[in-house]
Amino acid sequence: MAGLGVNIDHVATVRQARRTIEPDPVWAAVEAQLAGADCITFHLRQDRRHILDRDVRLLKQIVQVKLNMEMSMNEEIVGIALEVKPDQATIVPENRQEITTEGGLDVRGQFSRVAEVVRRLSDAGIIVSAFIDPEPAQVAASRDAGFQAVELHTGRYANATSPKEIAATLEELRIALNDGLQAGLVVHGGHGLTYRNIMPVAAMEGFSEFNIGHSIVSRAIFVGMRQAVIEMKQLIEQAAKK
Ligand code: PXP
Repeated sequence: MAGLGVNIDHVATVRQARRTIEPDPVWAAVEAQLAGADCITFHLRQDRRHILDRDVRLLKQIVQVKLNMEMSMNEEIVGIALEVKPDQATIVPENRQEITTEGGLDVRGQFSRVAEVVRRLSDAGIIVSAFIDPEPAQVAASRDAGFQAVELHTGRYANATSPKEIAATLEELRIALNDGLQAGLVVHGGHGLTYRNIMPVAAMEGFSEFNIGHSIVSRAIFVGMRQAVIEMKQLIEQAAKK
């Protein structure tokens, strides 16, 4: 059964709305772990829009499950990852104007820079994952670039509205999942997953982890972080039993 990675960025987004000390994303990481999260995920952006350097250092100290750092290939950020050594680094594209990570990383299009960053992070003992669109060419390029894992971008599925589109985007994920497994990669999924759309993806055998942020933090406002994480874990469990 796939594990649940809880992305705590949005807790920091609320804090940064007032540039104050609350709510603390580090507290959110504690609560998520108490509820059974298998992984804590955060994105240290170049613009420090939500997660701050102080959060990264505290998270490294207090997270007892897997710690997954989403990051661009910016040299300052790569340096911080090499120093902090999260368990896993997920390489994402980053663009200053975006509301959230938009497309997947173009591993094929910037192969030599990607391969260099992967090698440096891997040499430091960090598992390196590529956040990619569910496309066979990107899966193959990720394997060739030395990634141990890929996170398939589930955004096209999450945004699909008609039954036909939903079926097509699920099929695209199924193909990329199988390609990834056959290439010997660990396969994760994430982006846009919610309590309403997680089941069909979680029912696919082979995903190791789902990274979910916005939906969990949104629910946590009303039911608390612990309850929100428990409910998402239950859905993933139920889907795996079907
Ligand atoms: N995975 C990656 C690589 C992401 O960039 C994000 C967003 O930060 C997520 C998962 C979580 O997406 P969401 O907030 O839509 O659940």
